[in-house]
Amino acid sequence: MKITVINGTSKKGVTYRLKETFLEAFRETAEITEFYLPKDGPGFCVGCTACFRNNAAQCKDAAKVQAIEKALLEADLLVFTSPAYVFHTTGAMKAMLDHFGYRWMPHRPAPEMFGKRAVIITQALGAGEKSTAKDIRDSLSWWGITYIRTCSFKLLGEIEWDKLPAKKRASMEKRLRACAGKFASIDYTKPARTGVVAKAKFYAVRMLQTSLGKDNPEYTDFKYWKEQGWIGAGRPWKRA
Ligand SMILES: Cc1cc2nc3c(=O)[nH]c(=O)nc-3n(C[C@H](O)[C@H](O)[C@H](O)COP(=O)(O)O)c2cc1C
Repeated sequence: MKITVINGTSKKGVTYRLKETFLEAFRETAEITEFYLPKDGPGFCVGCTACFRNNAAQCKDAAKVQAIEKALLEADLLVFTSPAYVFHTTGAMKAMLDHFGYRWMPHRPAPEMFGKRAVIITQALGAGEKSTAKDIRDSLSWWGITYIRTCSFKLLGEIEWDKLPAKKRASMEKRLRACAGKFASIDYTKPARTGVVAKAKFYAVRMLQTSLGKDNPEYTDFKYWKEQGWIGAGRPWKRA
């Protein structure tokens, strides 16, 4: 199986240690590709809208965005990690997610995403670990992914891994290993099931695209939906 990890920080700190614990279960068996942001990621979106207009290659950061997208689409399991920075995901993660705005369901979602599985690992010193996970989850669910699990932690009192009480480290590792065990037992030859919320979003957008397409059949997103067969009977969760 293939795993793609998007690390919201390049620091080898607490977030890194939590992610390493999660990956232990897969080290022997999986092909793991990792991106460390901001180092391996695109710069800030400057709003050129080339991607929305189906000219993603014209984005100033196209090479980095496309490398990440390729790895995400090829992976069976996606792992996203982030510390809480002022109650939200890191600026680097947000900058990367902005580049995939055109992959949100109202635009041109990748059909592969509907069958993916993802885990989000976040932590905060005292508060904000859940809102941080939500920042990432919002994008993943609008990309079409239903199977998303989050592992969020409060460190409480200390932000250096080696200075955390051994009991605290052990309890976080135990939770992550249990979560990894569940992901390791999945049969990745079968895509994940698409849930009712993703389907409801899909049908709402389908209505919108159908109506937009009547006014302008050359509209980029409508043409994409039509090519995918989604304006007709095709559905991204029923791929051959
Ligand atoms: C810029 C910045 C903002 C932070 N904001 C919060 C916050 O809002 N809530 C919180 O509990 N911890 C906050 N922290 C602590 C981090 O969430 C995290 O626990 C700490 O950076 C250690 O993680 P790391 O070793 O992976 O970097 C912040 C840290 C930084 C550097």
